[in-house]
Amino acid sequence: MSGPVLQVDGLVAGYEPGVPIVRGASIRVERGEIVVVLGPNGAGKSSFIKAIAGLVPVSAGKVLLDGTDITAVPAHRMVRMGLAFVPQTENIFPLMSVDDNLKTAGGILKAKEAVERIARMYDTFPDLRTFRRTAAGNLSGGQRQMLAVARALIVEPKLLVLDEPSAGLSPKLVAMVFSMLADIRKAGVTILLVEQNAKAALAIGDRAYVLVEGREAHEGVASELWNDPVVAELYLGQRAQPSRGGEA
Ligand SMILES: Nc1ncnc2c1ncn2[C@@H]1O[C@H](COP(=O)(O)OP(=O)(O)OP(=O)(O)O)[C@@H](O)[C@H]1O
Ligand SMILES: [Mg+2]
Repeated sequence: MSGPVLQVDGLVAGYEPGVPIVRGASIRVERGEIVVVLGPNGAGKSSFIKAIAGLVPVSAGKVLLDGTDITAVPAHRMVRMGLAFVPQTENIFPLMSVDDNLKTAGGILKAKEAVERIARMYDTFPDLRTFRRTAAGNLSGGQRQMLAVARALIVEPKLLVLDEPSAGLSPKLVAMVFSMLADIRKAGVTILLVEQNAKAALAIGDRAYVLVEGREAHEGVASELWNDPVVAELYLGQRAQPSRGGEA
């Protein structure tokens, strides 16, 4: 299909009736892009992508995945529709081995297909092969994120959606996770990413949206947004001073 992989129009969503947290947000993700959603704490970024993934009730607006309306699709059916969501926490089964984590993620595939895809994940993430019999809870933070992403990729989704994959990781592991995501995109996967780590996310992203009070307040080319005064304003205190004072 041509057209965007994801199109979200005027999405309104929240946890309680009459209390919208997402207040008319619209974004689009084109095929092969990495699109980043930034925003201050509590802006509704997680709620927004959870609403896209069917985890927060939507009261208005539309979510189209590859042209198909997935607005009312419950979360457990999203994988079959082609949308794989990696939540910020609880994105693996810590007591299960790495191998069993991948097997359960491939549960919707035919047995032979699942075996092939798991082998492919081990080729992509050799660390996971090394620790295939280890309980996932004993992996390092970076390896755990790797496993969470591998679990999402095993179904070959049209869109990979991630909530703060770098949260809680050391700077070295943050770099590893972002380089992993850049590689995954190179392999043809379309990615929607929410991040606090604006600098690292904008470095691998194509375009970005800034979400403020549940609505996209700003949109731009990722490489330009980092120095955009509007973004600096919205990010008050969220990051080091941008390089904008020079000419003023
Ligand atoms: N499960 C929930 N039930 C009720 N309200 C919630 C729930 N989760 C989040 N909220 C509220 O929704 C608002 C937006 O929260 P959300 O987690 O979506 O923001 P965020 O932009 O992801 O923030 P952060 O940068 O801290 O991750 C907050 O006011 C929060 O209290
Ligand atoms: Mg969040």
